[in-house]
Amino acid sequence: MKRILVIHGPNLNLLGRREPEIYGTVTLDDIDAMLSTYADKHEITLRLVQSNHEGVLISEIHTAKWPVDGPKMDGILINPGALTHYSIALRDALAATQLPIVEVHLSNIHAREQFRHKSVIAPIAVGQICGFGSTSYLLGLQALAATIDNDRSNA
Ligand code: DQA
Repeated sequence: MKRILVIHGPNLNLLGRREPEIYGTVTLDDIDAMLSTYADKHEITLRLVQSNHEGVLISEIHTAKWPVDGPKMDGILINPGALTHYSIALRDALAATQLPIVEVHLSNIHAREQFRHKSVIAPIAVGQICGFGSTSYLLGLQALAATIDNDRSNA
């Protein structure tokens, strides 16, 4: 069994209504349902979190590694939204956990405005998947699960 924290950052609660020409018409509930279906078939337990508040996300990340009660998480799948491009605090929280991190984006951030090309998260992530719409999340979950499996077999 693997436990994975899935984090959706600011404004992702608006998916389906927000700039559909960029982000599509899929809603966050659709994405969570898709991830849950995959998780159920692959012995993965998900904790799904969306917040518009950086501090809430940071506290969730701390709890993933240092839970007040219950088991810790094995990895973090994160779409940090705009925090991707500037939040050193979010990066530091993720790095502190030393858990495998996979960064995902619906859009191809490298094909958009210059300020989106830089991710402060990518250097501390196992990898980044972007540009595939909601499929980025599914690919990210698969990649993170494979990373956790590999880490376990090499331990
Ligand atoms: C995003 C890309 C970010 O640049 C943007 O701020 C978002 C969404 C994506 O999934 O494509 O909020 O992370």
